[in-house]
Order: sequence, then structure tokens, then C-alpha cells
Amino acid sequence: MQRFSKAVSLLRSSEIRDLMTLASRPDIISFAGGMPGNDLFPVQEIEELFSNLDEKTKQAAFQYGPTPGLPSLLESLSGFLERKGLPVKSNRLLITTGSQQALSLLAKTFIDPGDRVLVEQPCFIGALSAFRSSEAALHGIPVDREGLVIDLLNEEIRKKERARLLYITPYFHNPAGLLYSKERKAELIRTLQGSNIPLIEDDAYGDLYFHEEDRERLQPIKSIDPEDIDVCYTGSFSKILGPGLRLGWMLVPEAIHEKCELIKQSADACSPSFTQVLADAFIRSGKIDSYIAGVRQEYKKRASAMVAALKEHLPSYVHYNEPRGGFYIWLTLPEGSDATEIMKIAVKGGAVFVAGKTFDPEGKKNNTLRLSYCNNTPEQIAEGIPIIAAAIRLLCG
Ligand SMILES: Cc1ncc(COP(=O)(O)O)c(C=O)c1O
Repeated sequence: MQRFSKAVSLLRSSEIRDLMTLASRPDIISFAGGMPGNDLFPVQEIEELFSNLDEKTKQAAFQYGPTPGLPSLLESLSGFLERKGLPVKSNRLLITTGSQQALSLLAKTFIDPGDRVLVEQPCFIGALSAFRSSEAALHGIPVDREGLVIDLLNEEIRKKERARLLYITPYFHNPAGLLYSKERKAELIRTLQGSNIPLIEDDAYGDLYFHEEDRERLQPIKSIDPEDIDVCYTGSFSKILGPGLRLGWMLVPEAIHEKCELIKQSADACSPSFTQVLADAFIRSGKIDSYIAGVRQEYKKRASAMVAALKEHLPSYVHYNEPRGGFYIWLTLPEGSDATEIMKIAVKGGAVFVAGKTFDPEGKKNNTLRLSYCNNTPEQIAEGIPIIAAAIRLLCG
């Protein structure tokens, strides 16, 4: 029999990955995956951009590239991030193979087996699995409507055994959909200062806001670059261009960049040059801004369609966020409800979602579920939500 490493034995296939098989069945309406709308990808624009590239750039697209990323993309992306106020000059940018790789490189950089890592409860499953694969001891800190509960963060920080990392997704959280308040971010900064705990600020969805007035709330902690905290800012092309590009980034202090670059060399040497060339051309053409503006409007429509369907069909004991951006609506059912059982009934009816325990650092709490509205038309949403509402009523009364 094979003998596997301890680290790999700790990994479990996530419910999301397993559900992908189900979600791709044509007869099921899937609210499960965190996938952008297939119908919205800028296929034609990208085709045109590629065919207009000069021969040398097209050849470079097929070639290996430098580990930190193609210089041209590093330059154009720096401009894109600088416009959000991010400190690109005093930090360094590393292009990664999806921002999932950024999380994984940071996990390897900071975590030894058994180290305490603080995460939000609930938390993005990809982050949980990156930290688990470094054998972290995960501690979930609950979030409320404004962000991490600071008193509980304080308790964790004061514990004798120092935490090695704090991971947060403050902008249209996956799965809870929440947007941190400005005040909560300020409290978080004050609490972290002096703790010597690096902060991973995951900003995969911040560009997908539905309301102009939220822009101030979307200002990254990294853009404040608070004294005495190593903020590791991660982002991605996945939700603003396409996950098939497998391109993300981290903006981090020089010393952290150096370690992550070394680990990346052993992971994949470089991220795909082909898609780096395309992303670079997309930014330089200026099309990225108008494209994102267009998808924002479309996602806003889909989110409204889902909220309208939930208002019409859900029993009043189910609570949920009305999304202000991003991809997700997070439902909280009465204590003791089992979202996995509800899901089994919903699947028979023809709709699927993700049960909450997938996002629980302890893998237990299951009276919650995540709905994603982005890869469905308003018509599919109107058809699928009543199926889920009926499954909830059947089990929860
Ligand atoms: C919060 C968050 N961070 C990071 C990622 C990883 O995305 P990618 O590796 O495609 O950049 C996702 C994907 O769903 C996400 O939801």
C-alpha cells in the first residue's frame, strides 16, 4: 500500500469540488460555483487583441517567462493597482497562477505544522485548504455585518501561543457577501498593530461593486499601508476577466516577495506567459475598465433578481444579506438545520448550492448556505430559487 505524507493525508476533497460534477449537469440549475457568467466573457475583444499583437510578443506568449511575472504585465498591472491607491512603489508585485497560488505561497512562507492561523468564520474554502496543506491549526473568528468581531480577534491575539497569520476577505466576502465598514477596518488595524501578525487582505471581488457610494469603503487596508503591519494584498483576474487565465497577484513587502518568489520557482517556475500577454494587452487597451463596468451592471441585475426571488419564496425565518457587490448571498437558517440534507432535496428538484459547513474552519456549522447568482440568467434564478425554498420548507417547516 502507498504511504502518503502527513500533509496530504489531512486534505479532503471539498464539497464545492465534488459539486462541480453535479453543477455541470445540464438539467440542474447551479448556484454552487463561484464562477463568473460564461455569457459575459470578452471573447471577441481578446481575440482581436491577440491578433493585433506583434510577432515578437506572440512568440513570447508561448515562451517561459520570469518567475515574478512578465515585465510588461508587472508595469501595466502596477498602473491599474496604483489607480486604486495601492502602494506599488514601496512594495513588490508578484504575478501568481490564480490568487489561489498567492494564498498557497504565503501559507508556505509563514506556516510551520501546528502553527495557529486566524481566519474568518465563515471563510473562503480555498484559503482554508491552502492553510490546511501547511498543517495550520485554524481558528475561526466570527464575522458580523461590518466585519470580523474585534473583541474575539483581540482574545485570539492575546493568547500565549502567537498566531502566525490573519486572513480576511473584506470586500464582498466569499461566502458571506459582506463588505467591511470603514470603522471596522480601522479597529482591525489598531488591534493588529504591535501583534507581529502578518495580514492577508484578499481582494478578489472589490472591483465588482454595485453602488458608487461604496467606493470609499472599498479602499484596501494595503492602500493605507499601516505602520507596523505586514499587509499581504492579493488579487485576481479571475472575477474581472476570466478564471481560465489562471492569473492573480500579490503586493507585498520586499522581504516577503523574496521568499514567495523562491517557493514559486519550485511550484511552477512562472505563471502562464500566454495569458499574461493577454491580460497585459487588455489593461493597456483600456478595455478592462469598460468591461468591468459592464459586468458590474449585469451582476447587479442578477443579484436583484435573486433577492426578489428570495423575498417572494423564502420563509421569514431565513436571514440573508442583500449583496452590494461580488457574487454571493449567504443564507442563515434556524439553529440545528442541516443544509446538506436540504441540498439533497433541492438537487432532486433540479437546483444546487453549497452547504455552509464547507466554509466553516471546523467543518461543522451547517445551518447556513451559499448561493451564487453570477453564472445564471434572471430567468434561471426565478426558476431555481423556488426549488431551494421548497426544500428549506420541507426540512425546516
Ligand atoms: C475570496 C477568494 N479568493 C481567492 C480566490 C481564488 O481565485 P483564483 O485562484 O481564480 O484567482 C477565490 C475564488 O473563488 C475567492 O473567492
